[in-house]
Amino acid sequence: MDVMNQAAEIERAGGTVVHMEVGQPSAPTPALIRAAAGRALEDGRIGYTQALGTDSLRQRIARHYREAYGVAVPPERVVVTTGSSGGFILAFLACFQPGDRVAITAPGYPAYRNILIALGLEPVAIEVGPQTRFALTPELIARAHAEKPLAGVLTMSPANPTGVVMAPEAIAAVAEACRRLGLWYISDEIYHGLTYDTPATTALAADPEAIIVNSFSKYYCMTGWRVGWLVVPERLVRPIERLQQNFSISVPFLSQIAGEAAFDATAECEAIKAGYAANRAYLLQALPEIGLGDFLPVDGAFYIYIDIGRHSNDSMSFCREALVEAGVAITPGLDFDEARGARTVRLSFAGSLAECQEAVARLGTWLQERTGQRG
Ligand SMILES: Cc1ncc(COP(=O)(O)O)c(C=O)c1O
Repeated sequence: MDVMNQAAEIERAGGTVVHMEVGQPSAPTPALIRAAAGRALEDGRIGYTQALGTDSLRQRIARHYREAYGVAVPPERVVVTTGSSGGFILAFLACFQPGDRVAITAPGYPAYRNILIALGLEPVAIEVGPQTRFALTPELIARAHAEKPLAGVLTMSPANPTGVVMAPEAIAAVAEACRRLGLWYISDEIYHGLTYDTPATTALAADPEAIIVNSFSKYYCMTGWRVGWLVVPERLVRPIERLQQNFSISVPFLSQIAGEAAFDATAECEAIKAGYAANRAYLLQALPEIGLGDFLPVDGAFYIYIDIGRHSNDSMSFCREALVEAGVAITPGLDFDEARGARTVRLSFAGSLAECQEAVARLGTWLQERTGQRG
């Protein structure tokens, strides 16, 4: 947020900034989705829906699991939510008691930690690294559980900020460990659809009791519609229905209409994804040439998580200088990893290829000058 505020200040003063910090698609929502919502808007009857979501959207999401993953999901176990963010609050409240400990990864999505703390829960950040391909493993979970019992485990694949995808076996191993230790397993699958080599697997394929958090935000370019979904075990449906009824009555009706149409917008979504793939291919080749070649595997999402250790051990200052001196906005790793993020940055390639090229040109010149100045 600080990077974005500072970038806005530079732009107000007449400067230009290449935005590589944003965590959302730059493309508009596909036309087919907007048209469906437009028709519903014209119709004018925009009321509450059932707290769990409209029947037709829940059925459509269940069908998606059959078609995309070959997994049978009863529509009754699908809950429509206000983005995955709303889904996390519902799932955490339904699963956990105050004081419960929930394992998450470092690096990881910062809101997990903040939501857990706000709900009186304790995030247990487990450091992951190249040895485990930046994912939690049964051993890491068992070790944290032995130190002090956990109540749940949260993984994501593809991950933010790393872009790493967990192999089906890695997900199955985590699911099995959670079953054995009696822990809730929550799988954030919000970047599904955005993988470049092999598709991501749903944790439901390994464990029908896993709690799935998903969203229309990323692959479908619908961040502002605030609509997502959960798939939960049957015994959680009623508690979650009660929570959602009281918190928000229902998810906005127009967004639910749009969400249902999203599953028919594959052609538009795939074309947008082809743009990310071109950006990714370019950056994988161009970043090493300017001295930013130390990054994690970029399996999915639209992020590259870069180790800047050879340039700086202070990612906050590095990002501030990159913004002020080179006009490129990137995100300091400290947002994602409190202990080790001082030597990492996240770069998002959700914009255009021209923006990626401009960012590389600016960063390349800046890094060269910087290295020259420092001898
Ligand atoms: C890993 C991850 N999970 C969840 C979210 C929340 O997204 P939304 O609430 O729009 O579904 C984000 C947003 O950037 C994210 O990166």
